[in-house]
Amino acid sequence: MNRRQFLKSTAAIGTAWSVVPSRVLAAKGPNGKLNVALIGVWGRGLAHYDSLSSENVVALCDVNEKRFPDALKRFPGAKTYVDWRKLLDDHKALGLDAVVCCTTDHTHAFIANWSLNRDLHCYMEKPLAITVEEARVVRANWMMKKGKLATQVGMQRHAHENFNRIRELIRDGAIGELQAAYAWGNRQVKPAGADYDQEKGIIYFKDNPGKPAGYLPDAGTPPDGLNFDLWLGPSPYHPYNPGYFGLGAGANCLSWNMFWDFGAGQIGDMGSHTMDLLWNAVDATLPTSAEAKGDPFNPAITPIKCESHFEHPANDWRGPIRVSWYQGGAMPRPPKDYVDLKKIGHGAMFKGSKGFLIADFVSRLVLPFGDDADFTYYKPRTKDKLLPPVGHFQKQWLDACKNPSLKTACDFEYSGNMIEQLLLGLVAYRAGKKLKYDGATGKVTNCPEANQYLSKKYREGWTLNG
Ligand SMILES: NC(=O)c1ccc[n+]([C@@H]2O[C@H](COP(=O)([O-])OP(=O)(O)OC[C@H]3O[C@@H](n4cnc5c(N)ncnc54)[C@H](O)[C@@H]3O)[C@@H](O)[C@H]2O)c1
Repeated sequence: MNRRQFLKSTAAIGTAWSVVPSRVLAAKGPNGKLNVALIGVWGRGLAHYDSLSSENVVALCDVNEKRFPDALKRFPGAKTYVDWRKLLDDHKALGLDAVVCCTTDHTHAFIANWSLNRDLHCYMEKPLAITVEEARVVRANWMMKKGKLATQVGMQRHAHENFNRIRELIRDGAIGELQAAYAWGNRQVKPAGADYDQEKGIIYFKDNPGKPAGYLPDAGTPPDGLNFDLWLGPSPYHPYNPGYFGLGAGANCLSWNMFWDFGAGQIGDMGSHTMDLLWNAVDATLPTSAEAKGDPFNPAITPIKCESHFEHPANDWRGPIRVSWYQGGAMPRPPKDYVDLKKIGHGAMFKGSKGFLIADFVSRLVLPFGDDADFTYYKPRTKDKLLPPVGHFQKQWLDACKNPSLKTACDFEYSGNMIEQLLLGLVAYRAGKKLKYDGATGKVTNCPEANQYLSKKYREGWTLNG
């Protein structure tokens, strides 16, 4: 029996072991644990410390060497790296089973691919990718390993029971036939030292009003311990500025994720969580069209205000639907003037033939619509048919690493399709046209010039599918 088979067998009998006294469990020993690498050890990385403390964290990677002493206090003996490529190339020597990644968004698809290509389980913080091509390459790699590896994207709000209740209400007919679904987020995140003119849709540095802001200005040499060139990684060179590192643990992504070279703006930020609230209930894959409009294009910074609309084909339980994403102040029309959707900062609304369902992450509201909306069409399931809870979101992935026949809620197929759709919205925004999309080939079919926005050029030495 090899190590992987051993882990699988211990996971499979886990339920039986739960009735065994704890001293017998302790006898399971270190071989029942996964060897894990944590890439990005501070910020969002801290949120993984507790769940990883039940496993062997054998390697830590961070471009900021100042983060190591504290991380090593929690995971003593782990080998440290500043370059995730070196860590992943050492995977055999480390005996690595799995990777948890909490780095900047522009490295996510790279680290996901490199992990899958080395047969490593992967938990990737959201967003899974920042271009359509990145999302497609990761998903394709995952589809070849599905059932053998475990993947999860860090959309941990998915564990709220509300996600299941919304899905049940829609599937059981509480709003009739599903016709459209809308998700929105109201954040207006700006780079350090910048402000936003909502009227004009322009982001500008406060010391240079009237002129659209760009990447942060050169602020000299990075501090000791910060490997800034590795932080830039596959993205084009930009000079160092402390403004990319100015916010607190878990919030620092709001210092860099609005720049095209480092993120996908609102979409990779709260969009990943909020579209998940919608996506879980509609069983969509890839859209056949995309159109979008928003703030004037800024070559450095993604739009704050923007809305995108997608057509999705029918599936086995519903007809074709339209899915929409609104951000930074753009909002769907409420079903009635007395419904103030703006009271929900990050929410979703589903439109059916008999009414609307409006939700935030933890609550929901059904609004029957029209005189014939009498609920006779609603066939609520019995209690024994309720969808099972996800449970602890990170643990769901750890359990699946030990037994990859177990499903995870936000694997790279589900999350890959979801982020590909949202990123296609940014392509439509840049193209300024309604695009027809062929999900099989990943190409825009009616606007050749839009295809250039599906992918990015990377710096030498950085291979997306390495
Ligand atoms: N799931 C959630 O609710 C949630 C919440 C916050 C952030 N996030 C995601 O987590 C990620 C990190 O966000 P953050 O706010 O912690 O950012 P951050 O800028 O604080 O970075 C986190 C850590 O990763 C390190 N790092 C950055 N690039 C690296 C690289 N190439 N290699 C190794 N280490 C690197 C940083 O030095 C830092 O220690 C983002 O993708 C963000 O979207 C998710």
